[in-house]
Amino acid sequence: MSANTPTSLGASIRNGALSLGVFAIITAAAISLTYVAGSDAIAANKAAAKARALEAVMSPSLYDQSLLESPITLAHADQLNLVEHSLGYAAIKNDVAQGIVLPVVAKDGYSGDISMLVGLSRDGVIQGVRVLEHKETPGLGDKVERKKSAWIDEFIGHSLTNTSPDEWAVTKDGGLFDVFTGATITPRAVVSAVHKSLRYHEQQQSSFYPNTQAD
Ligand SMILES: Cc1cc2nc3c(=O)[nH]c(=O)nc-3n(C[C@H](O)[C@H](O)[C@H](O)COP(=O)(O)O)c2cc1C
Repeated sequence: MSANTPTSLGASIRNGALSLGVFAIITAAAISLTYVAGSDAIAANKAAAKARALEAVMSPSLYDQSLLESPITLAHADQLNLVEHSLGYAAIKNDVAQGIVLPVVAKDGYSGDISMLVGLSRDGVIQGVRVLEHKETPGLGDKVERKKSAWIDEFIGHSLTNTSPDEWAVTKDGGLFDVFTGATITPRAVVSAVHKSLRYHEQQQSSFYPNTQAD
């Protein structure tokens, strides 16, 4: 039979279609695998970034297991300007809660919400504060970012016990915490939100630290 007969033409079309089908299946499988691997990597990166942010505000002496693996649903989260079911993260050492990382949002910044993390020991002493997200003006309000200035570290060691309500304010308002040149609104908002998180922590003592007593 000649190479050009209808039968051999049909066979070659069938073979071509089959090859194309197999190629399409392999390509689709490869794309799916790449997508799954890519989203796994993105999720892993996000989790690692979150773990680093939590660790930045908590003393390593207060936990011996991953902060990320000890989430606590926050009751009355609206008091921290958070949505319902927002999470805090307990610092647990020797199976006992020694502190907590609380998210809090300041609504009274210069340009919108300022999202923060505040790390507290069980007795309400600040271990660290970080601003996670904000829209404050570069060169003015953005000095609340730790990578721009060390201002945010002024909070470390303060508590409701060693700092009076009047002192929980910026220096311009008679308080303890510095302002930035030409920018009072942003630090004022951050100080107020950190103070709020301390009062919330005090109210929630029994839910954060069941069966333990603060020293
Ligand atoms: C364009 C522009 C951007 C500003 N951005 C900020 C800012 O991000 N944070 C801030 O505290 N103040 C910012 N300010 C300055 C405030 O308007 C205000 O003058 C300053 O915070 C002092 O506030 P006080 O009068 O309450 O002390 C900005 C001002 C201008 C004109």
